[in-house]
Amino acid sequence: MSDNEIDPTTPRKNPKREVKSIGGRKLQPSTLMMGHGYDPTLSEGSLKAPIFLTSTFAFESAAAGKRHFEGITGKRPGGAEGLVYSRFNAPNQEILEDRLAVWDGAEDALSFSSGMTAISILMMAYAGQGDVIVHSGPLYAASEGFVAKWLSRWGISYVDFPAGASREKIDETLEKAKSMASENGGKVCMIYLESPGNPTNALVDIEAVNQARDAAGLGSAQAAEGDSTKQGCPIAIDNTFLGPLWQRPLEHGADIVAYSLTKYVGGHSDLVAGSIAGAKKWMDPVRALRNTMGGICDPHTAWMLLRSLETVELRMQRAGENAVKVCAFLSKHAKVEGLGYLGMIKDDRQQDIYDRHCLGAGSTFSLLLKGGEAECFRFLDALKIAKLAVSLGGTETLASHPASMTHLSVAEGRRAELGIGDNLVRISIGIEDADDLIADFEQALEQV
Ligand SMILES: Cc1ncc(COP(=O)(O)O)c(C=O)c1O
Repeated sequence: MSDNEIDPTTPRKNPKREVKSIGGRKLQPSTLMMGHGYDPTLSEGSLKAPIFLTSTFAFESAAAGKRHFEGITGKRPGGAEGLVYSRFNAPNQEILEDRLAVWDGAEDALSFSSGMTAISILMMAYAGQGDVIVHSGPLYAASEGFVAKWLSRWGISYVDFPAGASREKIDETLEKAKSMASENGGKVCMIYLESPGNPTNALVDIEAVNQARDAAGLGSAQAAEGDSTKQGCPIAIDNTFLGPLWQRPLEHGADIVAYSLTKYVGGHSDLVAGSIAGAKKWMDPVRALRNTMGGICDPHTAWMLLRSLETVELRMQRAGENAVKVCAFLSKHAKVEGLGYLGMIKDDRQQDIYDRHCLGAGSTFSLLLKGGEAECFRFLDALKIAKLAVSLGGTETLASHPASMTHLSVAEGRRAELGIGDNLVRISIGIEDADDLIADFEQALEQV
């Protein structure tokens, strides 16, 4: 050994090969969440991934640096090999993305600094001047606002259909979108769904949307001619209310699944983040725009999400069980007009969609009180355990009034059309004791 070489006290170890099945049995997501995508030997044996607070990564050689940038900029096919700069990606986010992809059975996933960053960058990556986005309604108000108020500035228009729409209605909407696109010199660039819709829990028939897309000649099979992306028009879906446990949209004909990880996945109301997942070919344009703009989740939040993912199944199961009990109580209460709960659907078409698409009813629902805003406010102000706050999917029960809070920016007429009335309280059930929650709702209803 020469003088200027350092003798490492511990010899370097090679990464361990990952076990994804045992004796032909494919390991389940809940098992993979404890280690998938992370090799302790690369981090001094640390059982848990450290938080990598670095903005940049040292290249092994100048040639390796050039090769990385050729991958990032698309000069060489196959993308980046390894890490370059933390706006593009970094270890905690890579592990997170690998684990998120597992839950949705996706080839690839991308993480973002919020659900809205994920959704906005996704739409911007696919939409160009003259293009038309088709979306279901209702959407989370900021998603609807991004399409209507921001994308329209850049010559992108939209047409929507109600969540529960029949195949005929979806066909009709796609035909309208096609003629708008041809008038504007663009294409139908994305079908964007939210199911269940926030806050009504209205479900979209993803299978029917997929069939309608192909019948309208907008699918990948037909896209080879005339479509610059040669991929067709992707179907993206916001699965925040039921994912990743209770609905797996990629199995029902969606191409891209989007999340506010702030909700069930983060699950403790202590972080803000988002993600998308799907086949690599759908992720690549979004990754390219994220590389340019930034918007990736930060390392600390990614680390928190890795911790959250270890318990996401347990938390969601418990919250789902609590919601069954709480809704059974609320549904019989004299001051309750109705419930928008997926475990108590009254409409045959919605029930059919639920039976085909959903694996559980979730724990977020709308409670319709007899009365209006005044009654809802009295109820909300009287709650002792449930917290009066927007958001959902946390360990604690939250309640809010969408018409005057999250959906205030939606025009009054449109709110009525979407069923977001003044008597609607949105409730997200947490993992507390179910009977304690029932006692809280009972005493609050007495104040109405
Ligand atoms: C269904 C849905 N999608 C997207 C978002 C936006 O997510 P974020 O707040 O993480 O940006 C929300 C937030 O409430 C939501 O409820």
